[in-house]
Amino acid sequence: MSPTHKALLLEKKFGGYAVGDIATPKPGAGELLVKVHAAALNPVDWKIQKYGIFIETFPAILGSDVAGEVAEVGEGVSGFKVGDRVVFQGQYSNNKAGFQQYSVVLADITAKIPSNLSYDEASTVPVAVSTAWIGLYHALPNGFGLDAPISAAVKGKYKDTPLVVLGGATSVGQVVLQLAKYSGFSPIITTASLKNADSLRAFGATHVFDRSLSDSALVSEVAKVVNGKTVKFVYDTVSEKSTQETALALLHDGGHLALLLQAAVEAPKNTVIIQVFGGYKPDTASLLSTLYRDNLHALLEQEVVKPNQVEVLPNGLAGIPAGLKRLEDGQISRSKLVAHPLD
Ligand SMILES: NC(=O)c1ccc[n+]([C@@H]2O[C@H](COP(=O)([O-])OP(=O)(O)OC[C@H]3O[C@@H](n4cnc5c(N)ncnc54)[C@H](OP(=O)(O)O)[C@@H]3O)[C@@H](O)[C@H]2O)c1
Repeated sequence: MSPTHKALLLEKKFGGYAVGDIATPKPGAGELLVKVHAAALNPVDWKIQKYGIFIETFPAILGSDVAGEVAEVGEGVSGFKVGDRVVFQGQYSNNKAGFQQYSVVLADITAKIPSNLSYDEASTVPVAVSTAWIGLYHALPNGFGLDAPISAAVKGKYKDTPLVVLGGATSVGQVVLQLAKYSGFSPIITTASLKNADSLRAFGATHVFDRSLSDSALVSEVAKVVNGKTVKFVYDTVSEKSTQETALALLHDGGHLALLLQAAVEAPKNTVIIQVFGGYKPDTASLLSTLYRDNLHALLEQEVVKPNQVEVLPNGLAGIPAGLKRLEDGQISRSKLVAHPLD
C-alpha cells in the first residue's frame, strides 16, 4: 500500500479546499483501515467552512458518511476481514473523516453492508441513522428515552402513540419515519414539499402535510388526525426557528421536542427539549455500538431502513466543494450527494 493517499483538505478556518496528499495511517487496536469508495455530503460540512465552527486544527478533512472496503484490520478486531464491505460514520479528526481515500474507524461502530446495497446507497445512511436512533432511543437528555426496537418484544411497542416529524424529507427525517414505523408509532405525521409525499408514506408516514401550511392550519389538521390523543413527541429534523415554533404549537403540555440545531425558542416549563447530537462521544458510544455492531446490517438487509436517493458527483474529491454549495443553497430535495474519493 502506498504510504500516502489523496484527501480533500480545508486549508484553514473559513479557508478554501484543495486536494492534497496525506500519510495513510495504520489502524490501531480495535480499528479498521477502510478504502473509501463513497462519501456522502452533509449540511454540517458546509457549515464548518462557512461559520468556522467545530474544528480548530487545520488543514482539516471533513465528511462523515462513509462506505468502503476493509483494507487492514487492527489488533484485537474480530468479525471483520480485509475486503469486507462496510459503512460507518466518519469523525472530524483527520484519520477518521470521509473526504479521503483511506479512513480509520473503530470496528465496534462499523456495520457490514448487506448485498442489496451499493457503496453509494450505503454511504447515505450513517449520519441519518445515528441521529434518528439517538434522538428516539437515547436516554434523556440526549434522546426521547424510548426503547430501541432491538428485540421482538420491543418492536412495535409504541403502537397508537402519535409522533410528529417536522421535515420528513430531510435525510434524518426519512430515517426517523422508518424507525418510528418499526417502533409501532401511529399516527406518524410529517411535513414536506408535497412532491415527496408518496415516498414519505412509503417510509412510514401515515399523514403528510405541506411544509408551507401555517402553524394554525397544521395544528388543526394534526388535531383531526390524532382525534383526541395528545402529541407528546415531536422530532424537528429541520430545527430552524420557524419549525421550532411550529413544534411547540403542536406539542401538548409535558411533551418532548427533539432538535438538531440549537434551541431558538423559549419552551414552556413542562416541555422537555432534547438537543440531539447524532455522533460518537462517550455517552453515545454504547448505543451506537448496539446500532452498528449488532443491528444495522439486518435493518438494511430487511429494508427496515432504506437508503436515501443518490446523486453521484463528478470529479471525485475535487467535485465535493460544488456539491456543498448546492446543499448550502437548499437545492437538494430528498436525496444525498455522494462523492467517489478514488476517482
Ligand atoms: N445535531 C446533529 O447531530 C445533526 C445531525 C444531522 C443533521 N443535523 C442538522 O439537521 C438539519 C437537517 O439535516 P439533513 O442532512 O437531514 O438535511 P437535508 O437532507 O439536507 O434536508 C433537505 C430537506 O430539508 C427539507 N426542509 C427544509 N426546510 C423545511 C421545512 N421548513 N419544513 C419541512 N422540510 C424542510 C426539504 O424538504 P422538501 O424537499 O420536502 O421541501 C429538503 O428535502 C441540518 O441543519 C443539519 O445540519 C444535525
